[in-house]
Amino acid sequence: MTVKITDTILRDAHQSLLATRMRTRNMLPIIDKLDDVGYYSLEMWGGATFDTCIRYLNEDPWERLRDIKERMQNTPAQMLLRGQNLVGYKHYPDDVVEQFVTKAHENGIDIFRIFDAVNDIRNMETAITVAKNIGANVQGTISYTISPVHTVEKYIEFAKELADLDCDAICIKDMAGLLAPHQASTLIRSLKEEVGLPVVLHCHCTSGMAPMSYMVACEAGVDVLDTALSPLAGGTSQPPTESMIAALKDTPYDTGLDLSKLTDAASYFKDIKRKYSGVLDPISEQIDTNVLMYQIPGGMLSNLVSQLKEQNALDRYDDVLTEMPKVREDLGYPPLVTPTSQIVGSQAVLNVLMDERYKVVPKEVKDYVRGLYGRSPAPISPEIIAKIIGDEEPITVRPADLLEPEYERMKKEAEEKGLVTKEEDILTYILYPAIAPKFLRGEAEEEELIPTSDTPAILSHAAIPTHFKVEVNDEMFDVVIEPVGGTMEIVESCPKVCEGGVSSHMQGMVLSVDVNIGDEVSEGDKVCVIEAMKMENTIHAPHDGIVREIFISDGDSISSGDILMSIT
Ligand code: CO
Repeated sequence: MTVKITDTILRDAHQSLLATRMRTRNMLPIIDKLDDVGYYSLEMWGGATFDTCIRYLNEDPWERLRDIKERMQNTPAQMLLRGQNLVGYKHYPDDVVEQFVTKAHENGIDIFRIFDAVNDIRNMETAITVAKNIGANVQGTISYTISPVHTVEKYIEFAKELADLDCDAICIKDMAGLLAPHQASTLIRSLKEEVGLPVVLHCHCTSGMAPMSYMVACEAGVDVLDTALSPLAGGTSQPPTESMIAALKDTPYDTGLDLSKLTDAASYFKDIKRKYSGVLDPISEQIDTNVLMYQIPGGMLSNLVSQLKEQNALDRYDDVLTEMPKVREDLGYPPLVTPTSQIVGSQAVLNVLMDERYKVVPKEVKDYVRGLYGRSPAPISPEIIAKIIGDEEPITVRPADLLEPEYERMKKEAEEKGLVTKEEDILTYILYPAIAPKFLRGEAEEEELIPTSDTPAILSHAAIPTHFKVEVNDEMFDVVIEPVGGTMEIVESCPKVCEGGVSSHMQGMVLSVDVNIGDEVSEGDKVCVIEAMKMENTIHAPHDGIVREIFISDGDSISSGDILMSIT
């Protein structure tokens, strides 16, 4: 039985190895060649590509979709959709899911691969039903992981629920490269026998097992394999397309694809890779067998490294790797994939950086424990629940049932702000309300393509004073220094202001400032919200006092240690 190939070069491959930074202009010139190969499909949208486009590339993701689709005459366009999270990091109400899936299909998506981070079918049913109703092909997806509660029986049960929703195929999404060959064989054979739908296998090479699992998967009857063209294959990405085609040639699983049709595309992406060497982290290119212990998925390892770099704490990498499985166990063994990978990863980073577990807990982690992301695979212990959300009761209903429809309201809001030039802009605004306005107004700038990975990305920093201790005539002074037109100027030398300085312990972006100058605040009051590591972190007043000065406003980028405001 012929095995078909989906190439991930335009989505997962560069998400895994190049921090999702590939520009549309670097994709378009090669689409006709890719289209000519005879792939089952090309994965080219969704996942982190939507976020990166507006956050870093000043590119419209909808335009990317249309531009690629226009050049793809033969090959179905495929996207990765995070169920009720769409391409964001939280649940959206059903009306938004319906609009998004419909618009994605209208703009060119033929195949929707739909998953949920905790394999909660209730978080997938709206997206699947909408996609099926508009005539799209749907891959109901199992987020694969290993834990004491993840058994073949459980996966089969889940796949049957997906089949009941009329999915066209079952995809096994092995985002961390944990699927060992014998497990692949057992799982695929059971799926074929007990569910009967075509099976798609998506593995990352992180642990080095993926090519072996692919071979065994063929013998077990897999229908489609995900691969990436060799320049962006291996490491935390997929197995190489060319090697897979060659390995299966003249076997019963022959892909029927012609290697010579891939040469031009492969050499094209070799150049692209060189161009993007600045974002290529050598760690994500290596085989890392630690993943077998830590279970950190492809995209996440490279994210983790850049997060730690941003927080100036790359030396704590090993500590974070050790903390991660502990947090995962505490949270009921969620598979690590967006957004649970960020939830577990950020909490692990915070536990390590704060030198105390759960001292700082992002809103997303609290919401996860509240049940707002769905049922955790294993129950969370009452002690952990109490530590994270106090005496609040977690919910038991479908999380999206608690969400009011918001499409019409947000549409009005976006229109009033003058952000809408086409209908899709409303969805961009709903998905990324903090960063979309700047982008939609045309005020965003494309991040520079940096030549080496040692150079940090250039961030547009707000005019936040930096705090220094200066010695003058044997006396210590606290001074505040503010950048003025590229030069540094001492604007204040006032111990009081600095004593009352509220600083950020992480690099991030200001989501909201919740106090005004002159406000009286008590210790522990919320003063602002910082988005760091894609999580919302509430900053609390360190002591009672009056807000004297505020140095930040919404949308500002801040660095670790920046003084945000002063309260005295
Ligand atoms: Co993947």
